[in-house]
Amino acid sequence: HYEVFILWLLEVRSAVVKSVRSAQSRIFIKNGHIVNDDQSFHADIYIEDGVIKQVGTNLVIPGGARTIDARGKLVMPGGIDTHTHMQMPFMGTVAIDDFYSGTKAALAGGTTMIIDFVIPQRGESLLDAYEKWRGWADAKVCCDYGLHVAVTWWSPEVAKEMEILSAEKGINSYKVFMAYKDVMMLEDPEIYSCFKQCKELKALPMVHAENGHLIDIKSKELLAKGITGPEGHAQCRPVEVEEEACNRAITIADQAGSPLYVVHVMSKPAANIIAKARKEGKIVFGEPVAASLGTDGSHHYNKCWRHAAGHVMGPPLRNDPSTPGHLMDLLANNDLQVTGTDNCTFNADQKALGKDDFTKIPNGVNGVEDRMSIIWEKGVYSGKMDPCRFVAVTSATAAKMFNIYPKKGRIAVGSDADIVIWNGDETRTISAKTHHQAVDFNIFEGMTVHGVPEYVITGGSIVMDEGQLKVTQGLGRFVPTPPNSQYVYGRIDTREKAKEPVKVDREGYSGPVVEVAAQE
Ligand code: URP
Ligand code: ZN
Ligand code: ZN
Ligand code: ZN
Repeated sequence: HYEVFILWLLEVRSAVVKSVRSAQSRIFIKNGHIVNDDQSFHADIYIEDGVIKQVGTNLVIPGGARTIDARGKLVMPGGIDTHTHMQMPFMGTVAIDDFYSGTKAALAGGTTMIIDFVIPQRGESLLDAYEKWRGWADAKVCCDYGLHVAVTWWSPEVAKEMEILSAEKGINSYKVFMAYKDVMMLEDPEIYSCFKQCKELKALPMVHAENGHLIDIKSKELLAKGITGPEGHAQCRPVEVEEEACNRAITIADQAGSPLYVVHVMSKPAANIIAKARKEGKIVFGEPVAASLGTDGSHHYNKCWRHAAGHVMGPPLRNDPSTPGHLMDLLANNDLQVTGTDNCTFNADQKALGKDDFTKIPNGVNGVEDRMSIIWEKGVYSGKMDPCRFVAVTSATAAKMFNIYPKKGRIAVGSDADIVIWNGDETRTISAKTHHQAVDFNIFEGMTVHGVPEYVITGGSIVMDEGQLKVTQGLGRFVPTPPNSQYVYGRIDTREKAKEPVKVDREGYSGPVVEVAAQE
C-alpha cells in the first residue's frame, strides 16, 4: 500500500505541475523565421496550453503572454530522436543515462521527443515489458516520448501480444535483431513471421542488421589470437557483416510484403543497399545516427583503453574517414530518411566489464544531446542540406513515419508547442565536462559545432531560456503511435495487388506417373 501511495503522490504532483505550467504557457514568439520541412517563412507564433494557437503576422495576442524576440533566428519543430535506450538493462549492467538525465540532455540539445525501445527478455511477455518501461519512463521524462517494442523471441503468443500492443497500447513499430546470438537474435523464418504480422497490423518493422552467426564465430577467432581489446569489437563485424544482413532483411521484408526500417545505419555498403532497394521500388527506410554521421571508428585503435571502449557500439563505427560524409550525402538526398542516436551510455567502470574481453564491453554511445548540432554542422553548415531538409531529417519525417504528424514535427496551428529557436551561426564546443548527460564520456569530445538552441519549448513550457536549462521531471507524456502511417503504408496494398501470385488454368496431366518405391 505504501508503494501505491507513493505512485498516487507522484501522479498528483505531476498533475499539479502540468496545470501550473499550462497557466504560465502563453507564449508569443515574434520576428522569427519559421522552418517546416516543405517551406520556410517569416511569421509570429502564439502558444497557449501547450498548443500552437496562431501562426501569422499582426496577431492579436491575449494579455499575460511571455514574449520572445526571435529576430535573426530560425523557429523549428523540436527534434525527434527516433532511437534511444535510456536506463536499458544490457550486458550485465544498466545504461547510465535514465529517462530523467536522458530527456533533460535531449532538451538541452533541441530535441523535444524521444522514441525508446522496450526490450523484453527472451520468453518474457511483451506486455509485461511494455508496462515496465512505461513505469520507468512516465515518472522521469522531461519531454514527450514514444516506444518501439523489440521482438526478441517468436511464438504465437508473441504475435497475439503484438496485436494487443498495436490496438491498445500505442505501439506500431517492432524491432528484430539479426545479431546478439542466443540473447535477442531471431532466425530468418522468425523474422519473416514477425514482418508478416507487422504488415497485418499495419505496423512498421525495424531491423538491427548484422549477421549474428558470423559475429559469434569471428569474435571467438579474434579472442583466440589474443586480440581482446576494443579493436576486436570492430574487426569481428566488418562492413560486409552489416551489408549482408541489411540486404537479407530487405529481401525478407519484400517477400513478406511489409515495409522495413533499418536502424543505426553505420556503413557505406549498408546505406548503398538501402538506396538501391528504394530505387527498385522497395519500401525501405534508413536511419543513420549522430555517431555514424559525426565520428568514425579510428578511435577503436586509440592507445587509451577507455577512449577506445567509449566508442564501442553495434554495428560499429567504421575505420574510414569518408563514411560520415557519405551517410550525410545520402541523408541529404532522401536515400536515408530520419536520424536517431541509439543513445545507450555506459560509464568507464561499466565499459570495464569488458577490460579483458571485447565481447563483454557494454555496447552503446551518447548522442541524444548533440544530434541536432552534429547534423546542423555536417549537413547544413557544410552546404549539403537546407534548413527545410534539416527539419525533415530531425523531426518531420519521423513524425510522419510514426504517424504523429502534424501533432509533432510541424509548426502549424493545432500542433504541439514543441519548438526550438535555433541560432545557426553560434558555435559551441562539445565536452563531457559540460554536457547534461549522466555519462562520463562523449564521443564528440572537443568538436566545435555550429547550431545552438537558444530557446527550447516542450509541451508549451520554456525549458531552455536564453541558454539556461530548467526542466521538470515527469512533465513529459507518453505519445501513442497509431498504425497505418500513410507515409509508410500508402502504397503497400496497391503494390501487393500488382504483385499477386499468378495461377495458370490448364488441363491436368493425364499420362503415366512413375512408381515411387515405398520407404522401409
Ligand atoms: O550498441 C548498441 N547499438 N547498443 C544498443 C542496442 C542496439 O543494438 O540498438
Ligand atoms: Zn540495434
Ligand atoms: Zn582517452
Ligand atoms: Zn539501439
